[in-house]
Amino acid sequence: MYNQPMLPAQTFTSKVIIVTGGGTGLGKSMTRYFLELGATVIITSRKIEVLSKTAEELSAATGSTCIPIVCDVRDYDAVEHMLQSAIEKCGKVDMLVNNAAGNFISPTERLSHRAFDSVVDIVLKGTYNCTLACGKYWIENKLSASVLNIVTTYSWTGSGYVVPSACGKAGVLALTRSLAVEWGKYHIRLNAIAPGPFPTEGAWSRLVPPGMEDDFDMAKKNAVGRLGEHQELANLAAYLLSDFAAFMTGEVVVIDGAEWLKGAGEFNMLDKLPTQLWDMMELMRKERGERREERE
Ligand code: HXC
Ligand code: NAP
Repeated sequence: MYNQPMLPAQTFTSKVIIVTGGGTGLGKSMTRYFLELGATVIITSRKIEVLSKTAEELSAATGSTCIPIVCDVRDYDAVEHMLQSAIEKCGKVDMLVNNAAGNFISPTERLSHRAFDSVVDIVLKGTYNCTLACGKYWIENKLSASVLNIVTTYSWTGSGYVVPSACGKAGVLALTRSLAVEWGKYHIRLNAIAPGPFPTEGAWSRLVPPGMEDDFDMAKKNAVGRLGEHQELANLAAYLLSDFAAFMTGEVVVIDGAEWLKGAGEFNMLDKLPTQLWDMMELMRKERGERREERE
């Protein structure tokens, strides 16, 4: 059930959505579903060959229009140019998904300042560049709109070994909450999704240390005991972007099988206690109670 499409087929009829990083991974999966729901989708990233291949594949598969436009989200002028071409090609833009990201694992003291910049610039600067350019356009033209930002659960817990990403994502979460309030009066909603592990080539190739795939089995880290399926993330993304979520703004929705809570709860490691030990402790507690009753 959870890997089935969820929303009515006409949910995004006549809507135009920009998805940054839409050529690969989760961006591609969200794009596919938005197209199935009737949207026209602009996918944007640095590699035109990747974008063009995805746009062709998804347009053919869904019968909707997917348009590739190359853009490095770190460059504000390039973002404005991408937005203008999207408006020229489609007449308007209604929604934005800030999904593009950069990440790698490293002890922080080994990073150069350029390495730090490279991740923060894609994640935070890329997100505020796209949000600012689109926001100015929506406000000036009195258009209602919706933005979805893809963050992570370590946006609020922090995480060692991915510190530039944690800093960038924390900033994106602050942007989401701040602008939801400031731009509510313009009928612009902003929400975020914090995904747990959803296998993609981009993330797995950079974040799982080679040869340690078994030790890093992400499915074992959460309460549900499996990895996320792309369709269940796409369902949530489409819902939050759409008018079905008209009263939701400034929210971050976690979809991680309780992974971060499992790491946080003080006694969650008691999962490891065998049933016999619980039985024995219960027996001891009862015996202590009986002895107390005898004494009284
Ligand atoms: C240390 C590194 C490094 C690494 C690059 N650098 N990779 N430092 N460890 N693994 C350093 C370089 O030496 C250089 O510094 C600086 O970073 C810039 O490197 P470039 O290769 O020139 O950067 P660029 O071409 O802009 O590429 C950006 C990138 C790359 C972030 C480094 O990985 C990228 O393009 N990523 C995009 C896709 C991606 O990351 N997807 C995963 C998202 S997953 P010097 O000092 O040498 O000049 C995600 C999920 C989180 O976010 C949660 C999962 C559960
Ligand atoms: P991915 O396939 O590597 O996606 C990252 C995308 O960002 C790529 O398409 C890349 O395209 C684009 N990109 C990178 N730098 C860019 C730039 N400067 N300008 C424009 N586009 C740029 O990884 P993914 O796993 O699908 O990640 C998608 C999102 O989900 C990210 O925000 C990530 O942090 C988040 N997330 C993923 C997971 C997971 O388990 N997969 C978990 C939590 C959060 P180009 O290289 O062509 O530019």
